[in-house]
Amino acid sequence: MAKSEIVRAIKGMNDIVPFAPENFLDSKIWQKIVHAAEETFEAYGYRFVRLPVVEDTQLFIRGVGSETDIVSKEMYSFEDRGGRRLTLRPEGTAGAVRAYVEHSYFHHQPVQRWWYLGPMFRAERPQKGRYRQFYQIGVEFFGVDSVASDVEILCTLNRFFQALKLDTLTLRINSLGDEKSRQNYEATLCVFFDKIKKDFPDDLHDRMKNNPLRFLDSKVFRQSGHADSAPDMIDSLSEDARTRFDGVLSGLNRVGIPFKRDPTLVRGLDYYSHTVFEFSTQDLGAQDAIGGGGRYDQLVSELGGPATPAIGFAAGIERLALLLAAQEEQDKAFELCILPMEGYAQEAIILAESIRDVGDIKIEVDLTGLRLKAMFKRADKIGARLAMVVGEDEIAHKRSTIRDLSQRDAEQEVALDARLIHDVARDMLDGRMGSDES
Ligand code: HAM
Repeated sequence: MAKSEIVRAIKGMNDIVPFAPENFLDSKIWQKIVHAAEETFEAYGYRFVRLPVVEDTQLFIRGVGSETDIVSKEMYSFEDRGGRRLTLRPEGTAGAVRAYVEHSYFHHQPVQRWWYLGPMFRAERPQKGRYRQFYQIGVEFFGVDSVASDVEILCTLNRFFQALKLDTLTLRINSLGDEKSRQNYEATLCVFFDKIKKDFPDDLHDRMKNNPLRFLDSKVFRQSGHADSAPDMIDSLSEDARTRFDGVLSGLNRVGIPFKRDPTLVRGLDYYSHTVFEFSTQDLGAQDAIGGGGRYDQLVSELGGPATPAIGFAAGIERLALLLAAQEEQDKAFELCILPMEGYAQEAIILAESIRDVGDIKIEVDLTGLRLKAMFKRADKIGARLAMVVGEDEIAHKRSTIRDLSQRDAEQEVALDARLIHDVARDMLDGRMGSDES
């Protein structure tokens, strides 16, 4: 690389900076997300943990599962100078469980509520909402296996999303049951896959047989046209697992959290059992999962601790920030700019106040003292949709004109009356232009 050439960030790894060229990478939005997480999680008794970014590769092979995409295709693994196999963590749960076991929490205080945030690394093909270094905010709740713990964790997350005013997310939920239910289901799936395997390339047949749940979750199956006729996990649940799942769903109904039961939701990590869930959005295209999680009652013992139930969740900060950035843009756009001529600023403010009394139009009164032409230019630049002048003529005739800055020549004359201005402006903003003014 020539000395004068600038060094760039690695593809799929972003800078989070003030005044970022792409809104969602602006540090202000990130602060807002972190603040909402801290306020919400601490209010439910969660304590913050900060764990290493690099772990022994074995942790993820044993914890997340060697057959998963994350472990088999996406890990950033390397050998350090001492010849140890290390990995940049692709997710936070395995590390949290390692720390829980390593510090023997199960002896002194087995019930632990932890929250964390930090970078995770997956070598996926970058696209909108999918990065190679991305940030998760997550929670892990150890030591309780009751239905109430599932319901509580969903309340916690729901409140976190509400704190960010994200109220259009959909919660999908499923149960993978216990070990026995899973074996039943895998057997049922194998019979089903055996019948349809002729429709899939030969090199997939082994996978269909050896890891039917993973195959069910694969893109090739989901897009195959067979997805709708796949057997439903719920029919393979043992009686206990079914009762447990019914309890979770009725708990969600009682706390008023809407959900969709999704029998195809299996999640891409091997440690889950019983409840699994995902919050998704329709506003981000292909990368629609905002956050997901579930129970992982075997993981603590699989990583060397005593049998300890647990449940957790993680949300991607970039995806939250993308949703918030879209909101911010709407927030930023003033709907109406009132442009006072020299000496008419007070009149403009009084008029704006009475319009705000009537309704919820976002108004900025231009107090820059610029000339009229410059005020129009500025209104356009700050993203105002409408502009209206208040000056000697307007006050004398008790009339003004509302101009739509996004459409040349679109304007409406209106009497200087707060209610009328409000109604005409609202119609123009909503794309309803009246034939003439009121
Ligand atoms: P996950 O579903 O793999 O779960 O990831 C959680 C969230 O991280 C996703 O819903 C998404 O928002 C975000 N995410 C994942 N990959 C990327 C990426 N390449 N770029 C941007 N965002 C991404 C887990 O990681 C589990 N550890 C969650 C959990 C905690 N389960 C129990 N406890």
